[in-house]
Amino acid sequence: MLTINRKYLLILSLLSLLLNAGLLYVFFYKGEKVVVSPDGRKEIKMSEKNRAFVMREMRGFLESVQQINEGIAKNNPGIIAKVGNQSGTCKVNGVPQGMIKSLPFEFKQMGFGTHELFDEMTKMAKENYNRQQTQEKLNQLLNNCVACHKTYKITTE
Ligand code: HEC
Repeated sequence: MLTINRKYLLILSLLSLLLNAGLLYVFFYKGEKVVVSPDGRKEIKMSEKNRAFVMREMRGFLESVQQINEGIAKNNPGIIAKVGNQSGTCKVNGVPQGMIKSLPFEFKQMGFGTHELFDEMTKMAKENYNRQQTQEKLNQLLNNCVACHKTYKITTE
């Protein structure tokens, strides 16, 4: 009797482990509803409201990139110093409930890395502005935009 119970317990624990690993994979790593789109990109599905949120943030990114470039062109770090407020990691707090689990791990990593780079640009502009290094950082930032756009698209469910 006892041995059968132990076997049951073992099987149940293994099943629960597998289930947990599966859930972790779906919600944390792969993203809740991610499919491969016919154009080869990974398609993330989310609510219309959440997509609108991400796209608003994207337009903010573009505006910040424009400001950084203007700062470099005019050699005026004051313009660059503002981008952290618009596109830095402070923006991560405002992400709507339920959106995180719809995003694949790699997307979150690239997205967060991009917010961090905007903070770094602000810091550089405020503390030790150097035109050449700012331009190199901007290039690093743009590589992030390109890499993510190549890999993902977002549609509504
Ligand atoms: C983590 C991924 C990711 C990063 C990093 C990223 N984007 Fe995006 N962006 C997207 C996705 C996904 C879309 C939607 C594309 C689609 O559905 O075809 C998008 C759309 C946009 C749009 C269109 C917005 C609209 O209103 O339709 C702009 C502009 C944009 N991104 C700018 C940028 C800029 C500039 C950067 C870099 C500073 C950047 N993005 C970095 C994922 C990203």
